Amino acid sequence: MKTIFSGIQPSGTITLGNYIGALKQFVELQDDYNCYFCIVDEHAITVQQDRLELRKNIRSLAALYVAVGLDPSKATLFIQSEVPAHAQAGWMLQCVAYIGELERMTQFKDKSAGKEAVSAGLLTYPPLMAADILLYGTDLVPVGEDQKQHLELTRDLAERFNRKYNDIFTIPEVRIPKEGARVMSLQEPTRKMSKSDPNQKSFITLLDDPKQIEKKVKSAVTDSDGIVKYDKENKPGVSNLLSIYSALEGVPVADIEKRFEGKGYGDFKQEVAEVIIRNLAPVQARYNELINSDELDRILDEGAEKARRTAGKMLKKMENAMGLGRKRK
Ligand code: TYM
Repeated sequence: MKTIFSGIQPSGTITLGNYIGALKQFVELQDDYNCYFCIVDEHAITVQQDRLELRKNIRSLAALYVAVGLDPSKATLFIQSEVPAHAQAGWMLQCVAYIGELERMTQFKDKSAGKEAVSAGLLTYPPLMAADILLYGTDLVPVGEDQKQHLELTRDLAERFNRKYNDIFTIPEVRIPKEGARVMSLQEPTRKMSKSDPNQKSFITLLDDPKQIEKKVKSAVTDSDGIVKYDKENKPGVSNLLSIYSALEGVPVADIEKRFEGKGYGDFKQEVAEVIIRNLAPVQARYNELINSDELDRILDEGAEKARRTAGKMLKKMENAMGLGRKRK
């Protein structure tokens, strides 16, 4: 069976973008692959986090993993910092990466632009991500479009390591969803929806209540021609809402366009809001059962143990390949 690895940062309550771009794919894939889904808390601290908030967000993301339908008897769910091999392998891969290629990452450029004090971790973020993936012999990495460049670098680092040291890493492929690979901001539909956006109206979180969802969708920026039609260039706001609807309901955009022929944005937005509320209701109900439960701790303990076993084996191979430590019988 082929192996899948993916991760999400616990840097705030995750958004509809994370759900459609990543989590929804995870659920679809868990029956056919050996899956590892990680809460990447060490990536989150590349920018300063409030410690109590971070702890809360880690637990909340774990509960959401299960609430959206990830089944711990099929997929391994765990927290990155509970598997020390990630940071260890991340260091080794930093020594394989070049500063130049890390500085060229668009995420680094975006997050460091105009800032005086930029953490070194923000620059060395991609080798840690490569470590996450390569430790599990991963074949496939389901992510949204914004992670494509990091995946290309992961492949480069794996190939370089295999060539320079020993041929131990599988070269992973990226998997990007057909619909919803880049869910856009509701307020600035030419930018991606992001949980770190200071404008709360620009994103919907998985824990927003129906009233908040309705309000945010109704105030989503559209255009003035009143036609529900997909045209990313000229109608980015309407196109984004069509993509969200299509991805959540699994219906083609053309069918939705037909349904709203001759109707205005008011009707359309009302239905988009209803679709989102309907999709999130069961997730939120399950989340509320899980968030304070011992069951969640059990799932994470078992996940970390399983991940430590698998990752530990690859870490040993990496140490042997690079000549770290002593030879043991
Ligand atoms: P993060 O935490 O920013 O996002 C988690 C996942 O959600 C996807 N995503 C989106 N998809 C569609 N539309 C959007 N607006 C949107 N915003 C986010 C992301 O593409 C991602 O799949 N570096 C990663 C976390 C990571 C990781 C890994 C991923 C660390 N190690 C190993 C895969 C494998 C990140 O910051 O994702």
